[in-house]
Amino acid sequence: MELHIHELSVSQQFQGQGAGRKLLLTALEHADKRELHSLTLTTFRDLPWNEPFYRRFGFETLSPAEISPRLTTVLNNEINHGLPGERRCAMRLKLR
Ligand SMILES: CC(C)(COP(=O)(O)OP(=O)(O)OC[C@H]1O[C@@H](n2cnc3c(N)ncnc32)[C@H](O)[C@@H]1OP(=O)(O)O)[C@@H](O)C(=O)NCCC(=O)NCCS
Repeated sequence: MELHIHELSVSQQFQGQGAGRKLLLTALEHADKRELHSLTLTTFRDLPWNEPFYRRFGFETLSPAEISPRLTTVLNNEINHGLPGERRCAMRLKLR
């Protein structure tokens, strides 16, 4: 089973003080304690605090062939809500 991070957001006035990192670590610990297989999320490829930030945590960007039907649905829903699909990616952190 996977834990999907639907959204990670910190109020602008509190950004850059470590809250985002702590939130992500909390999700990671939660998934690990429950012996989940991995964490997944979708994010922007080209924003420094999106894909590169998650990569530093060990998330890998999935190739089109690796994207599961569930994540494909998530990406398609985002496009239907107006996000630019070519700038979005799906990522996964394998825990076990
Ligand atoms: C992404 C977000 C949740 C990070 O929260 P935060 O509390 O500012 O993050 P932290 O202070 O814990 O910093 C986390 C990392 O992001 C990097 N970062 C944060 N703001 C940044 C910026 N403006 N430019 C570049 N890097 C940035 C920090 O360098 C840090 O990396 P490091 O810990 O490896 O050094 C926050 O910026 C946010 O809410 N952004 C808008 C919504 C968003 O993009 N959410 C993610 C969608 S998937």
